[in-house]
Amino acid sequence: MIYRALYDNLLVHTDPEEAHHGAVRAIAAAGAVEPSRRVLKATFGSGFGPATSPRLDGVFPRPVPGTLGLAAGMDKDAVAVLGFDALGFGFVEVGTVTALAQPGNEKPRLWRHTDVRAFRNRMGFNNLGAAAAGRRLAKLRSTAAGRAAFVGVNIGKSKVTELADAAGDYRASTHEVARWADYLTINVSSPNTPGLRDLQDVETLRPIVRVVREEAHAVAGREVPVIVKIAPDLSDAEIVEIAAMAGEERIAGLCATNTTIGHDLGPGGLSGAPLKDRARDVVGLVRSSLRDDQIVIGVGGIENAADARALLDAGADLVQSFTAFVYEGPGWPGAINRELTPR
Ligand SMILES: Cc1cc2nc3c(=O)[nH]c(=O)nc-3n(C[C@H](O)[C@H](O)[C@H](O)COP(=O)(O)O)c2cc1C
Repeated sequence: MIYRALYDNLLVHTDPEEAHHGAVRAIAAAGAVEPSRRVLKATFGSGFGPATSPRLDGVFPRPVPGTLGLAAGMDKDAVAVLGFDALGFGFVEVGTVTALAQPGNEKPRLWRHTDVRAFRNRMGFNNLGAAAAGRRLAKLRSTAAGRAAFVGVNIGKSKVTELADAAGDYRASTHEVARWADYLTINVSSPNTPGLRDLQDVETLRPIVRVVREEAHAVAGREVPVIVKIAPDLSDAEIVEIAAMAGEERIAGLCATNTTIGHDLGPGGLSGAPLKDRARDVVGLVRSSLRDDQIVIGVGGIENAADARALLDAGADLVQSFTAFVYEGPGWPGAINRELTPR
């Protein structure tokens, strides 16, 4: 309640990107030292159990600590995993990272649409590069708390890399981060890198999926679960085709969905409440098109436990959030995970 009042009256008047960086810095700082991390965890991030979908057991060698995780894009450079973990996210997807460090698109590139509880962004994968993320994750995994955190790494294509060379670019990122990842997400669905979403065409996507899987196995010395994240703006037929390819390639599953370009609010992809219905429909379609042993990570417009349950009921095994966390504040992820935990 306090955060909500603070957000609606004060934070809403700040520059959204500055506020974002400030928040991530604060969360990173709070997570970096044990005493404050312990207080955060006790205050916000405890009292819930692991995700319960039996399919997860076939994909991950250890339980996922909570059903709701942090969606990609918030902690692009993997600087605040322990902070987000302590706030009550069951897992943290860092990135998108790209093989080459890049500044992203020119500003402004992030807008609030508070009236519809949404964000619009055209960030363009601003990140310090996969090698830097790999170094941060190596450091994270050198501690007991860091090894306990459940971390996905989301990889995308560097802007300057030609689409024809995309597979090599994804391979280079995989090489840097796979060893430290509980799973990898191949992002071919951001609307903010020119041509990226063309990689969702199955015959373009298939070699990328193979290369990432192969490279991950080579560097990590184990099967690293690979997820493909798709856009909500694909046609149903295209989604079914991608799911069929995912089945043939026996990857771990799909993540649905990224932001949508189906709006008239300006440039960039829209997240949050307006995405809710389409995300649920895509999750349902993906579930019915995948093999039974493949998982679905549902993301898009979750604002409360009922929304999360709707995605789970549609067939998701795990869910993620970005926008509602910003609107609702630090107490929100733990509260949702507690509500999703069977009593
Ligand atoms: C500012 C911003 C940046 C994002 N960056 C990424 C990204 O780098 N990679 C990615 O896969 N998704 C990115 N997303 C999409 C989210 O991970 C998520 O799929 C989407 O926002 C829908 O979830 P939500 O409605 O809970 O926000 C971003 C979203 C926002 C709002």
